[in-house]
Amino acid sequence: MESKRTTCQEMNIFPAVQADLADVLALLTSVDLPHEGVEEHFSGFLVAKDQDGRLAGTIGIERHGSVALLRSAAVAGQFQHSGLGSCLTNVLLETARKSGIEKVVLLTSTASGFFARRFGFAEAARSDYDGRLADSPEWRLPRCSSAVCMSLDLNATEKTQSSTGTNN
Ligand SMILES: CC(C)(COP(=O)(O)OP(=O)(O)OC[C@H]1O[C@@H](n2cnc3c(N)ncnc32)[C@H](O)[C@@H]1OP(=O)(O)O)[C@@H](O)C(=O)NCCC(=O)NCCS
Repeated sequence: MESKRTTCQEMNIFPAVQADLADVLALLTSVDLPHEGVEEHFSGFLVAKDQDGRLAGTIGIERHGSVALLRSAAVAGQFQHSGLGSCLTNVLLETARKSGIEKVVLLTSTASGFFARRFGFAEAARSDYDGRLADSPEWRLPRCSSAVCMSLDLNATEKTQSSTGTNN
């Protein structure tokens, strides 16, 4: 597990383990994000912890074939605006790209600007993904029905990065 650790903003980022579940759910509650489907998809979650092992942030991905739903991006209030959310998102997208995921989709009511400006997500038609994400509890939540749907083509961003020499 140690070899999977990434360090960012003095935080250690790890794949989540079952013992992290209660703290992750509490963090999601604190930023008003849903719990539905978290436990089923917890193997796709990352956690960021401070030097004392306290949870500072999380993010998760639900894989549905070559499409994945990015969800539960959350940073505890005292750690927001210090780059941790961007680090978590970068690590998650890189992991997704390496595992063969082609398209990442998300629903957000609060952070469309964050995902658009920092990562190139663009608004997408939700109906394009209704079939492929039908098994996702979060996708089906009534409270998410009015959220903005956004998508990112990982193949396209990989080509852009290799042609510009950027290393995200
Ligand atoms: C969204 C979130 C994960 C970002 O984490 P973070 O650690 O604060 O983000 P970073 O420090 O890496 O980046 C901050 C940048 O994102 C912007 N940003 C942060 N939250 C934003 C939001 N809700 N909408 C638009 N932009 C946002 C900030 O303005 C800042 O931009 P700047 O540096 O150009 O000023 C965090 O604010 C959070 O937990 N929010 C509450 C839960 C939530 O809304 N999650 C998204 C669900 S899809």
